[in-house]
Amino acid sequence: MSKGERKDYKICSMNFLNYLLVESMDYELQVQTFQLNQSIWEVLMNYYDAFHERQLHVNIDMPDEEIMLYADPSAVKRVVENLVSNVLKHASGAVEISLKEESSSIFFTIRNKTDVMTEQDVERIFDRFYTGDTARNKKGTGLGLSIAKSLMIKMDGELFATLKNHQFIMTCQWKKRT
Ligand SMILES: Nc1ncnc2c1ncn2[C@@H]1O[C@H](COP(=O)(O)OP(=O)(O)O)[C@@H](O)[C@H]1O
Ligand SMILES: [Mg+2]
Repeated sequence: MSKGERKDYKICSMNFLNYLLVESMDYELQVQTFQLNQSIWEVLMNYYDAFHERQLHVNIDMPDEEIMLYADPSAVKRVVENLVSNVLKHASGAVEISLKEESSSIFFTIRNKTDVMTEQDVERIFDRFYTGDTARNKKGTGLGLSIAKSLMIKMDGELFATLKNHQFIMTCQWKKRT
């Protein structure tokens, strides 16, 4: 087994363990109030070199004001990591990342160009093990989005996917605490 293959295997089994963990009945979230901007920046900084290597132009639109969120900080980070790593793996270009607060919800959106996604794919991407056309996609396990969706629902939030003019858009929504 080559070095590269071993690394793939590791990522795959980690994702699978994570999947089992998140789906298990006794997986409990540890909710607290924290600064969402900072958590997102931390994830993005970790991917800075990877974006650079991939030569993906990323436009980031984050507010200067602090956005406070009542949720599980590590679950939020995992969701953001899954979405950002998907951009690295699957985007065909032009990436936009934004965070905004509205009166009753907070929205985190990542959009990127896709040359291959179809409406039929979008309907199934949250299914476990779904990786689109397997001939074109040998990179993943198909668990990332199903983990992300489960975590968002456990946090009383939502994760949406839409396709518009070859733009693939993922939106996380958290309701604000009243
Ligand atoms: N940002 C994206 N751009 C284009 N296609 C995407 C993106 N994110 C996910 N996909 C598609 O959705 C499928 C499921 O995503 P995911 O559950 O994270 O599995 P994978 O392990 O393949 O990344 C991917 O295999 C890919 O076909
Ligand atoms: Mg993925």
